[in-house]
Amino acid sequence: MSKGPTVKGRVLSGVQPSGGQVHLGNYLGAMKRFVELSKTAETLFCVVDLHALTSVKEAEKLRDYTRSLTAAYLAIGIDPEETILFRQSDLPEVCELSWYLTCNFPLGLLERAHALKDAKARGDTVNSGLMFYPILMAADILLYRAEQIPVGADQKQHIEMTREIAQKMNSVYGDLFPIPEPLIEESTGVIPGLDGRKMSKSYNNYIGLFETEKALEKKVKRIVTDSLGVEEKKDPEKCSVFKLYKFFASKDEQNALANKYRAGGMGYGVAKQELFRVINLELSPLRASYDSWMARPDDLEDILLQGAQKARVLAFETLSELRSALGVGRY
Ligand code: TYM
Repeated sequence: MSKGPTVKGRVLSGVQPSGGQVHLGNYLGAMKRFVELSKTAETLFCVVDLHALTSVKEAEKLRDYTRSLTAAYLAIGIDPEETILFRQSDLPEVCELSWYLTCNFPLGLLERAHALKDAKARGDTVNSGLMFYPILMAADILLYRAEQIPVGADQKQHIEMTREIAQKMNSVYGDLFPIPEPLIEESTGVIPGLDGRKMSKSYNNYIGLFETEKALEKKVKRIVTDSLGVEEKKDPEKCSVFKLYKFFASKDEQNALANKYRAGGMGYGVAKQELFRVINLELSPLRASYDSWMARPDDLEDILLQGAQKARVLAFETLSELRSALGVGRY
């Protein structure tokens, strides 16, 4: 397949296998675009299991989550023939690079990271891995000299840190790394969860991408709305139900539902039923594909290992040049 340049340079992104399933926030904010980009650009997508170690402490769970996320990538349409799909920990080189970056990264910057501040504010026990998380993420990107990073808005600061460290490394050791760009879409940057806050596993306000039809319907019914009565006129743009509807419905369907909101006479239950219908329409085939991949764990493992072999070629090149520039290893 020809890969015309819709974006310039190598594309890389990653998702944490840190919970049972990816959710609609991951899918709409990032992963759906991975599929589009994989058709036209050189892409690497990663199951970042080392990052997940900051929160997942049971081996069998982490293996399950890794399988689930790999199946999710494949179910939404990532083709391992045209993308390098791999597991972060299959390339321990990333930990080596991470140390080289750590030695050049100001500690104060890490302390300012939003994710760390949020974890502290939630009262989570903060391990050092959480603090050094942005450096490992920078290593993911720089090890493969990726230039375009499709992510949701919550990852913006991490990409800014990666840019900073790449610039620093280049100024100290010579021109080794391209400076990566975040690819964040305005319309999908922050997908709302059931309670209107950003959809997130930590807030437990998410809709899993492959929930059964019944569970999906139940979740949609739980979306928080205001207390306006059936007869009252409503503002679709202020309603999480409608915000989610826009990602799944056609323009005509959106206009029709928006008109019902504005006219009054429609309860939120009707809008929720309509939202469930369109989500289910898009996700049913993905759910079936996910289930069939989950029944083939050996094939998932093979795909990841083949991806790691391809990724290793790129990692080797970067690290050879970098080791020589740093003065470590053979001379
Ligand atoms: P993670 O696993 O939290 O999320 C994966 C992707 O989903 C996006 N996302 C959202 N986008 C919009 N609205 C939401 N409610 C929402 N929730 C999640 C995230 O922005 C992300 O793009 N640190 C990263 C993983 C990572 C990575 C990397 C990403 C590790 N190394 C290298 C890019 C490049 C993370 O925890 O994503």
